[in-house]
Amino acid sequence: MQIITAENLAYSYGQQRAVDGVSFSVGPGEVYGLLGPNGAGKTTLIGMLASLLDPAGGRILFNGEDLTGRPQLLRPQLGVVPQEVSLHDELTGRENLAFFGGLYGLAGNTLRQRVGEVLERVGLLKDADRRLGGYSGGMKRRINIGASLLHQPRLLLMDEPTVGVDPQSRNYIYELIAGLAEQGTAIIYTTHYMEEAARLCRRIGIMDHGRMIAEGTLAELLELLPVRDLIRIGISGAERAELEALAAGSLADFAPLIGDGELTLQVDNAGRSLAAISAAFGPEAARISDLAVERASLENVFLHLTGRSLRED
Ligand SMILES: Nc1ncnc2c1ncn2[C@@H]1O[C@H](COP(=O)(O)OP(=O)(O)OP(=O)(O)O)[C@@H](O)[C@H]1O
Ligand SMILES: [Mg+2]
Repeated sequence: MQIITAENLAYSYGQQRAVDGVSFSVGPGEVYGLLGPNGAGKTTLIGMLASLLDPAGGRILFNGEDLTGRPQLLRPQLGVVPQEVSLHDELTGRENLAFFGGLYGLAGNTLRQRVGEVLERVGLLKDADRRLGGYSGGMKRRINIGASLLHQPRLLLMDEPTVGVDPQSRNYIYELIAGLAEQGTAIIYTTHYMEEAARLCRRIGIMDHGRMIAEGTLAELLELLPVRDLIRIGISGAERAELEALAAGSLADFAPLIGDGELTLQVDNAGRSLAAISAAFGPEAARISDLAVERASLENVFLHLTGRSLRED
């Protein structure tokens, strides 16, 4: 059974359609990545899933039950990590967490115990009694994430939780997510870092202009590309005419792109193509002076589907 299912969700700000018919679902223990450039509609979608925004169309099911008009079915089981950090600088890390725990209805020993467990989990136990004002951006982020975990939600919505975070905090966050998923938490994770989506998420939905333009595992998304690997081959002393002759002749099967003193071959799998490429070069192979393989990534998938780069922001 899926934890959460979005069916054809839509939302507009005035005339502007920010989310336009998005459907997907996430099961227990699954980390689902919502990948898209600025303005794709990720935060708006998260807002609807968190029942902070009323969908203009479509519906949301939680554990198979329609949430329309019944956000209370979800709230006790939901953790939200908002895109903007909202904490109190004059309070300590521990006090901040206790404040949020109180909002979730925790009190007394249970609250104290959960705050301690969460501090340990986000790796901030030894800094717990310092004021937040002295924390780094990454440490604040970890407290912000911790605040969403106090009541042990079954569904966690994380909106770009690693933006502006130092590498050490980032690694804490990655490990935390893996651990939560292992315990069965369903996690929806928005990002515009494709490396992060590829690394963390079992399935990835690619959003653009309010729509889900592709969805699947990393391997399934890469299948959408006509070629998977690019092999750049430098050839010493090669003139353009000579490269053109090679490209049109023995190497034509590899759809070569002609560069300055080099050819870039487009293949499905670099490793498996190497013998054929070497045979196609024949004795000329001795002139190969440089070779580099570039693996296709989610960036290439986004470019292939939209004609634009994911990084334009
Ligand atoms: N409060 C608002 N009022 C009007 N338009 C909005 C509002 N919030 C978002 N939008 C617009 O809706 C679209 C989707 O925005 P949204 O914030 O959901 O995208 P996003 O994918 O989260 O972007 P980012 O990566 O920048 O966080 C954008 O075109 C944005 O300008
Ligand atoms: Mg956003």
